[in-house]
Amino acid sequence: MFKRTWLLGAMAAGWLLTPTLGQAQFVANDARLLASGCFQCHGTNGKSGAFDALAGDGKLDMLNKLNDMRKKSAGSSIMVPHARGYTSEQLNMIADYFSKQK
Ligand code: HEC
Repeated sequence: MFKRTWLLGAMAAGWLLTPTLGQAQFVANDARLLASGCFQCHGTNGKSGAFDALAGDGKLDMLNKLNDMRKKSAGSSIMVPHARGYTSEQLNMIADYFSKQK
């Protein structure tokens, strides 16, 4: 309960402290937040992870792979449940984020 209150407080503070940032900035931050779920295995910002680096990969290629993974109902792949956990829009934001990392 405390944790949740703290999180909401931090989010509210974030909004209050960044009144001059445009919409694009928030979208970019949201994309990084979503992509951070992939950092554990693919490395922070998609670099130097235990598995394939995603930084700088083609957005469409990445999206196609993720959508293929999503269509599988189950399987031995680690990626199937991960890909299935996001909406199309979220996957689009994630692929966009990684494709723009150097
Ligand atoms: C628990 C570890 C783990 C996490 C978290 C994870 N992945 Fe993966 N990912 C893998 C592994 C392992 C592979 C290799 C293929 C396989 O086993 O499915 C892979 C493969 C991929 C590939 C194909 C790479 C290629 O070049 O063929 C893409 C794209 C990908 N992951 C994207 C993501 C995205 C986006 C996220 C976050 C939403 C994510 N992964 C989260 C472990 C992970």
